[in-house]
Amino acid sequence: MTITYRIGVIPGDGTGPEVVREGRKVLGAVAAAEGFALDPVEFDLGGERYLRTGETLPESVLEELRALDAIYLGAVGHPDVRPGVLERDLLLRIRFELDQYVNVRPVRPYPGVSVPLARVDPAEIDLVVVRENSEGLYAGAGGFHRKGTAGEVAVQESINTRFGVDRCLAFAFELARRPGRRGHVTLVHKTNVLNYAGDLWSRAFADMATRHPGVGTAYVHVDAACVYLVEDPGRFDLVVTDNMFGDIVTDLAAAIAAAGLMLETLGEFEAARRVETGIRSVAPKLRSMRAAEMGFTTSEVGDMIAEAAANA
Ligand code: IPM
Ligand code: MG
Repeated sequence: MTITYRIGVIPGDGTGPEVVREGRKVLGAVAAAEGFALDPVEFDLGGERYLRTGETLPESVLEELRALDAIYLGAVGHPDVRPGVLERDLLLRIRFELDQYVNVRPVRPYPGVSVPLARVDPAEIDLVVVRENSEGLYAGAGGFHRKGTAGEVAVQESINTRFGVDRCLAFAFELARRPGRRGHVTLVHKTNVLNYAGDLWSRAFADMATRHPGVGTAYVHVDAACVYLVEDPGRFDLVVTDNMFGDIVTDLAAAIAAAGLMLETLGEFEAARRVETGIRSVAPKLRSMRAAEMGFTTSEVGDMIAEAAANA
C-alpha cells in the first residue's frame, strides 16, 4: 500500500506562493520517484487574509493543522499589516500550539554559489543550528506597567524550563550521531551574563553529554560564536542554542531548502537526499542566487530541480 502524507500548504504572502509552487513540483517529483504520495491541503493564511477578514489563525484551522503530517510554509508578512500581528498570532502560534519545539537550520554552501567569506574554504562549512523553538524570550511572558507614561516599565522575560531545554538538547545530541555528521555539539549561550537561564542550559548540557558518550562537546558565548561563524565556521558541527540566539545566528548563517527538511522530518530520507542532490546539481547553472538575477525564472528553476531530483 502506498503511504500518503497529508501536507498542509501555507503559501502565504510575497515570494511565498511563487516559491511554494516550485517546491511542490519538486516534492511531487521525488514522491513519485520514491513511491509515496502527498495529499496537499492548502490554507490561505497570511497577510492578505488578515486584511480581508481580520483573521490570523482561526481555531478551526488550527484544529485542521493538528491533524496533518507536516506543514509546508512559504513566507508570511505584508507591508500593510502592523509588525507583530502575523509573527505572534500566526507563525509563533503555530509553533507553540503544535509544540514544534526545535527549529532545525542547516548551513551548507552549494557548489557554484559564492560564499561571502574571503578566508574560508566553503568545503569546511557543514553545520546545523538546533534552535529551541517553544520558549525563551519568545514565550511572550512579561507586560507593561504605567504604559504610555514617562514612568513606563516593559518587562520581557525569558522562560527556560528544564523539560524544554532537555528535549532540545536531546534532539541535537541525537542528530550529532546521525550518519554524515561529525558527532560534535556546541552549546551557544551567554552564561557569563545570563546567570539563571545560562546556568540551567549549561547544567542540562553537561548532563546530556554524559548520556551521549562519544559525542564531543564545546561551549561558546553567542557573541564569540558570531565571530567564529565568519572566521572559522568549520569548527561547528551541531550548534544548540536558545530561541532568541538561534533566531539571530541563523540569519547570519542559514539558507534553507525547506521541502527537503520536511521530507527528513517525515522520515523520507531518500526523497530528502534527492531534493538536496537536485539543488546541488542545479545551483552551479544559476548566474546568481539573487532574485531576478538567476538567469532563469523561478518556474524554470523549479522544473530543473524537479527533474534533477527525480533522476538523482
Ligand atoms: C524566523 C523569523 C521569525 C522568528 C519571526 C518572523 C517571528 O525571524 O523564523 O527566524 O523570529 O522566529
Ligand atoms: Mg529569524
